[in-house]
Amino acid sequence: MANPLPLVQEAGSEEEAFERMKAKLRGLLSESEIRAKAGLAFEINRLKRERNAVILGHNYMEPALYASVPDYTGDSLQLARISAKTDADIILFCGVLFMAESAKILNPDKLVLIPNEKAGCSLAEGVSAADVRGLKERFPGVPVVTYVNTYAETKAESDYCCTSGNAGSVVRHVLNQGHSRVIFLPDEFLARNTAREVGVPFVPGWEDSAPEQAAQSERAIIGWNARCEVHELYTVEDVEGVRKQYPDVTIIAHPECPPEVIERVDIAGSTKKMVEYVAESDTKQFLLFTECSMGDNIAVENPDKEMLRLCSHRCPHMALITLEDTLASLQKLQIQVELAPDIIERSRRPIDRMLEIH
Ligand code: 13P
Ligand code: SF4
Repeated sequence: MANPLPLVQEAGSEEEAFERMKAKLRGLLSESEIRAKAGLAFEINRLKRERNAVILGHNYMEPALYASVPDYTGDSLQLARISAKTDADIILFCGVLFMAESAKILNPDKLVLIPNEKAGCSLAEGVSAADVRGLKERFPGVPVVTYVNTYAETKAESDYCCTSGNAGSVVRHVLNQGHSRVIFLPDEFLARNTAREVGVPFVPGWEDSAPEQAAQSERAIIGWNARCEVHELYTVEDVEGVRKQYPDVTIIAHPECPPEVIERVDIAGSTKKMVEYVAESDTKQFLLFTECSMGDNIAVENPDKEMLRLCSHRCPHMALITLEDTLASLQKLQIQVELAPDIIERSRRPIDRMLEIH
């Protein structure tokens, strides 16, 4: 995101950090809250330099953290790419556990930290390595594409990874390798939306009749029934209600939303695409169907644009990552992400394949 304001990350004193944060966040947070958070941010940035650590912050981080401590912000794909190239000794991941695991898989010899290991994800919880093995038995020889929102054991059973930013490209790539079927896990809605984008039928892989259903089409995406507990809550009524009240609004939805919602919004895409679209678009009023903090972060970076909010749906996992825990993480070098060497080796292959494609 382009922002002409001086970086909080480079402030030389706590007072300077406070002034810089105030310039960014004054419309969003009270001055007393900004002052309390500026003290934490200044200490985090000081310690980060002392320990040669890099902080990666997902776009869903709460505004005070997002605006003050990450060296890089982005979506899952951007942050995975950055983690693969960093020469820092420590990677501190302000995001959820599956994202920090991806950084560990790409950097097995580095110390990878996450401020709170309870920061999970309903998608990652929604499929296990045993589920993948079961699908491979039912659909022998069919390649498995796994969304990065999964744990390392699940990735280790897969052939390719993908993110919301490249799901269509990865599926097209696999189909172009001569495969007529793809198993796509675990997000049912991302799979249905990707099937629509690529132009192939979707088969519900959890149903007993899935092998017969798949046999009826020349090509197919075989999906699973996990859902994002945040994005599954957006409805057609939300789209229609907002359009009635704000006829000029541009609605941008994450592809983890239900297909009937995606069909009715203006743009669908990863959180990176949302950030770029708002910054580059000539229209002035936007609403994001995604974690609400993201709307705050984009509003801070684009003061000339109006961001509407529909904040009843929040990601409880992303909200667990706080400035307080981020500081404790750097002070005590906790919580260290550890994965078994064979899981790292096997889960790295599908991630590397994804990074080579797109
Ligand atoms: P992005 O990869 O688009 O940032 O999405 C991550 C996520 O968890 C969406 O809910
Ligand atoms: Fe997982 Fe949904 Fe939260 Fe993203 S918003 S981390 S997909 S639960």
